[in-house]
Amino acid sequence: MPAPVHDLVISNGTVATASDVFRADVAIRGGRIVALGSGLGPARESIDARGKLVLPGGIDSHTHIEQLSAGGLMNADTFESATRAAAFGGTTTVISFAAQHKGMSLRKVVDDYAVLAARGAMVDYAFHMIVSDPTEATLRHDLPALIAEGHSSIKLFMTYDKLKVEDETLLDVLEVARAHRALVCVHAENHGMIAWMSRKLLAEGKTAPKYHAESHPRASESEAFTRLIEAAALVDQPIMIFHVSTAEGAAIVGDARRQGLKVFAETCPQYLFLTAADLDRSGLEGAKFMCSPPPRERADQLALWQALARGDLQVLSSDHAPYRYDATGKLSAGPGSTFKQIANGLPGLETRMPLLFDAMVSRKRPEFAGRALQSFVDLTATQPASIYNLAGKGSIAVGMDADIAIWDAGRRVTLSDDLMVGNTGYTPFAGRTVKGWPETVVVRGKVVAHAGAVSGVPGSGRHIPRAGGWAAEPAG
Ligand code: URP
Ligand code: ZN
Ligand code: ZN
Repeated sequence: MPAPVHDLVISNGTVATASDVFRADVAIRGGRIVALGSGLGPARESIDARGKLVLPGGIDSHTHIEQLSAGGLMNADTFESATRAAAFGGTTTVISFAAQHKGMSLRKVVDDYAVLAARGAMVDYAFHMIVSDPTEATLRHDLPALIAEGHSSIKLFMTYDKLKVEDETLLDVLEVARAHRALVCVHAENHGMIAWMSRKLLAEGKTAPKYHAESHPRASESEAFTRLIEAAALVDQPIMIFHVSTAEGAAIVGDARRQGLKVFAETCPQYLFLTAADLDRSGLEGAKFMCSPPPRERADQLALWQALARGDLQVLSSDHAPYRYDATGKLSAGPGSTFKQIANGLPGLETRMPLLFDAMVSRKRPEFAGRALQSFVDLTATQPASIYNLAGKGSIAVGMDADIAIWDAGRRVTLSDDLMVGNTGYTPFAGRTVKGWPETVVVRGKVVAHAGAVSGVPGSGRHIPRAGGWAAEPAG
């Protein structure tokens, strides 16, 4: 018998990338893809993917893990539980946040998150640095040094009392990012409009979760997007606008891009599959659907799908922000909580890929006619890898990391709270039946999930250091 030349061969499957769909076996050695073709030689292990789709593992570029909320509440997932959820749902790389709150040293924050992730993660990871206290030490020393060390994206909030930056400090951070080639990601909502609306609603006794949606007027998104884009244009600094929720927001991004501005943007499943009506439940049940910005209307869902298909939005992330529906999370302020006292955020790491596969590939969203599979790969893996410069990630090609999800396109799964493997204890998508499931998930050549069982080893995930890359280069 000839000696094995490969560690793993995935044979007989249909491979898809952002541009092509083709039949090929995939040979893996040392964690990398070393050959595509047929008759690839003996391997220590093999997986027969006959009748299956062999796709790049998902890249979820917006996840909150082991992080303090804007209100100071620790979220439900550790790196171990969040990356278990990722593996289960077909995601092989996450970008989470190293979150500086006021008074914290950014250097220490990043070092602390690096320890937590190194200990717990079972898929690969990188960090966006949340800057909420842009002191001279942060701007002149920590940020340049940390960007040079491979943390090439910054996240800013334009709202939330404890995290927000004002216009002047926003410009300071954009300027530092430009000088050192980091992408600036922004939660862009007008703080004053939200605070004013919230105050009025609470004064009228409107405290239920459904008023959270009303307290974030659509104009708070449009105004903040416009102001942010003008600020970024003034400095000539590329930006990524997080979680676009409205048709107007998507249009503003599209217009900016058509003017040649370097504006990237993402949306998330909650804005494609939920609406504000989901928050309208008895008692505090609506809290399970509360995130910021809130889910909007059906017409917004349609506009977001169209913006994704046009390329105005380039990334589909989860904005995984997990809080349990109990006193440790959503209900931490007790049974009489007002919408202002309930932590914002939804779990999404497990469900992002199956929900999007179902909508785009199985149900054939008309916006992606003829290229559904390629678009799914592009928006959930290839573009996030490219924009955030995750070298070796996001496609299936010789030389790339062997991060692969083997999909059973015919498998039907009804999402439920019990099915979830993260720590949140519920999914806002419970009751939906999706067609298509990531049956086997491989990170750098090692199986981390198969048939619903996660076998990834905590601590086996690797940090992926990132230089700024093309997306962070100023337009000039
Ligand atoms: O509601 C959300 N999205 N919570 C997470 C924090 C954020 O806004 O990114
Ligand atoms: Zn946000
Ligand atoms: Zn977020």
